[in-house]
Amino acid sequence: MVAPQNNIPTIFAAFGATGDLMRKKVLPALFYSYQQHELPKMFKVVGFSRRDWSDEQFQEYVRGVLEEHAGAKIDETMLAPFLSVFAFQQGTFEESASYQNLKKTFDECDKEWGVCSNKLFYLSVAPEYYDLILHELASSGLTDPCAPDQGWTHIIVEKPFGMDSETAKHIDELLGKLFTEDQIYRIDHYLAKEMLQNILIFRFSNNLFEIPWGNELIESIHIRVLEKIGVEKRGAFYESVGAMRDVGQNHLLQMLALVTMEHPETFAASSIQKKRAEVLQALKVQKPDDVRKYTFRAQYDGYREIQGVAPDSDTETYFKVRALLHIPKWEGVPIIMESGKRLGEPLKEIVVTFRHPSPCLCPPNGPHHKNEVIFRMEPREEILIEFWAKKAGFAFATERREFRYLHREERAHVPYVEEYAKLLLDCVHGDQTLFISTDEIRAMWRYVDPILEAWRKNIVPLETYVPDSREVLEKAASIG
Ligand code: BG6
Repeated sequence: MVAPQNNIPTIFAAFGATGDLMRKKVLPALFYSYQQHELPKMFKVVGFSRRDWSDEQFQEYVRGVLEEHAGAKIDETMLAPFLSVFAFQQGTFEESASYQNLKKTFDECDKEWGVCSNKLFYLSVAPEYYDLILHELASSGLTDPCAPDQGWTHIIVEKPFGMDSETAKHIDELLGKLFTEDQIYRIDHYLAKEMLQNILIFRFSNNLFEIPWGNELIESIHIRVLEKIGVEKRGAFYESVGAMRDVGQNHLLQMLALVTMEHPETFAASSIQKKRAEVLQALKVQKPDDVRKYTFRAQYDGYREIQGVAPDSDTETYFKVRALLHIPKWEGVPIIMESGKRLGEPLKEIVVTFRHPSPCLCPPNGPHHKNEVIFRMEPREEILIEFWAKKAGFAFATERREFRYLHREERAHVPYVEEYAKLLLDCVHGDQTLFISTDEIRAMWRYVDPILEAWRKNIVPLETYVPDSREVLEKAASIG
């Protein structure tokens, strides 16, 4: 069964059909949406690449990718109808004729469906091809809707959004010349995570917490994405970016935005994006001396032996940063962001710590009571409220307790699938809430650039850590 609102005739055009992003993220996510009956009834994927493949060869390739991802054979009654939506178009990114052929394929499909379909463009290619492909797309007329009031064209842009403010600006200007902002969907899969979407619901539907949300009552915020996995087979890519660009400039700053943004006027995409952008723009940019005092970076032992990594690499695989926001509501509240690879069991969460006045009814030699609200994505999707209560018994003694809300039953973490399924469907439905606006991109780079620059100058020496341990967290403890 296909839900009626999902009957939006859509052609998904994948440039670099056999690229890494298609294999790891998009194909499993599309199949997942299909299994959930969420794909539009009229839906076609046109893979575009230089290989001389037939539709059937492409379909066999997709089968292989999905079975490898699932680690098992997939039931044919489910797989065969899904594979039938895949078509292949041979061509090179350089030749204008290839784009004309693609246009013909689109037109044939529209004719067959008897509609002017919507087009979703996805680039699973190295960023150096963006310029070329985007220009060819625009000049070939492929990104023009087939009728003035029918059929949209949307383009999905993957991270990394550049390597710094300059390169990001270049990509943005290029996109801005060829597309309007409402056609551009910049992906950050963290925004599609259940528990991060849940922050907005939790905050803005429950006044209980929203009223004290600010520096009067909140003492600090800790944002952590501690990964178990290492760099794996992505040595060459990771070596050129490092942890800060890989997850800090995007995922962690978006987590910061969600937990500190003001109440949006509406829940419309533009209102939410605007409020996220406002807090990101308020991040206090660090001077070299601040970077020295308030940041830490390290690399795990053994990283330099990974294929694609320089033997004398100074790329960080872990970082910790203490950020401040220049807005009256958050003035003086340290926001600590930390993330790294090979840190033992995964822990991905935001911890909001509340102030508590002195003197308090605390245990005589114990810690000062602090309430915490924890939004956790891993190892479980849950919200915890830590509080203090009387210990049962005769003594007038306190103990730490918690309210725990488990968002849903524990599930195996299959990277990207659920998030990409949600995001790709949102592109089809034209909902940009979970996508990054150009203002956010600029604000995030504005904050990150000076840190990276100071690190490049070795103002903060690169430390090392023992992999699969929490050792580095101790080393970075002085940051906050
Ligand atoms: C990606 C990074 O954006 O996010 C990876 O490139 C990282 O290095 C991943 O492992 C983390 O995502 P998740 O969903 O597994 O927390």
